[in-house]
Amino acid sequence: MFKPSRKPFLNVFSKSKQSPPIWFMRQAGRYLPEYRELRKDFPDFIKFCLSPKATLEAALQPLRRFPLDVAILFSDILILPFALGQEVTFKEKTGPALSPFAWKDLSNSYDLSQILRNLEPVFESLSLLKSSLPDTVTCLGFVGGPFTVAAYMIENALTRDLHTVKSIAFEDPVRFQRFLETLAYITAQYALTQIEAGAEALQIFDSWAGHIPESRMKDWFYTPLKIIRDAIREKYPAVPVLGYARGIGAYGEDLITKTGLDAFSFDQSFLLEKVSDFSAVFQGNLDPTLLIKPSHFLLKEAERLLQTFESKPYIFNVSQGLFPQTDPDLVSSLVGFVRSQRTEIV
Ligand code: CP3
Repeated sequence: MFKPSRKPFLNVFSKSKQSPPIWFMRQAGRYLPEYRELRKDFPDFIKFCLSPKATLEAALQPLRRFPLDVAILFSDILILPFALGQEVTFKEKTGPALSPFAWKDLSNSYDLSQILRNLEPVFESLSLLKSSLPDTVTCLGFVGGPFTVAAYMIENALTRDLHTVKSIAFEDPVRFQRFLETLAYITAQYALTQIEAGAEALQIFDSWAGHIPESRMKDWFYTPLKIIRDAIREKYPAVPVLGYARGIGAYGEDLITKTGLDAFSFDQSFLLEKVSDFSAVFQGNLDPTLLIKPSHFLLKEAERLLQTFESKPYIFNVSQGLFPQTDPDLVSSLVGFVRSQRTEIV
């Protein structure tokens, strides 16, 4: 299904043994002074996300500093609620806040072509990005997982343990499921349009899925993700799709087998000793705290990961997005180290 490629990131999916490509979740952002400078012109984060030249610049900034194998679209998972008509604001300390939304009506009220028109600047940013990249770097698109996006849309400002969205989902399971599956369908169309614009692979960030009780994993997690995966496979079978969620290590194998996703982006909740139990492309899981201050654990951890995955298809990454406190020089040393190990492993 996946053909060998000149791009190290894409080549992992053709399952030929190779040394690991490297990139970081949230590799663009506030830890880079040049990003903070760029943001100064855009007090409103959503307006920033809707400015293709600015988001192109934000996506390219980390690549100018570090020899990474992936350039990820600069946007946010909450751009979709915005495109659905919800007001989305980002406040410095309290996190995102969304206006109330009539989620129960979404399945019979949405206008797909209007939604995709609202997302036009995202597609423009992606096609600019694709055409700016050297032919070894992969252009990665992304979407939010339906459960995570639904949590933001329904809770407006997230409760710590997501009790608002979960209570609603338990009380009104039929309507909640319809909402999730409608969101999954819209997300799939959004993902397909990203591929048309230039995305060569796609990552689904279902960051809060770790809050889902076991009895609801199928309905709230696997089913919506499978809707997205199936839609992409049907139209673009050669485009790999990666799945990320925090705290779902125990479900890693099911995530792959029940949804058809191609890679499991894991965090510390996944036991490394289980690596040989299932076949998938793995991505992760350096703790990004190690990139805040110099620590002798940084390269030791990197080495441990490289050794664990020596004979597996593997993408070097972090267990969650880089923190704003990240030291860019440590990122640089880490990328240099992983790259220097590459030639030895091959
Ligand atoms: O990885 C990248 O470099 C691409 C850009 C990207 C952003 N958000 C930019 C951003 C990606 C892939 C995301 C995904 C995202 N957004 C997730 C899933 C990944 C994860 O970290 O769990 C989630 C849950 C969101 C929602 C979101 N967006 C939150 C909770 C916040 C505020 C907290 C924070 O980190 O500031 C945002 C804002 C946001 N998205 C920023 C960036 C660079 C910070 C905005 C700024 O102040 O410049």
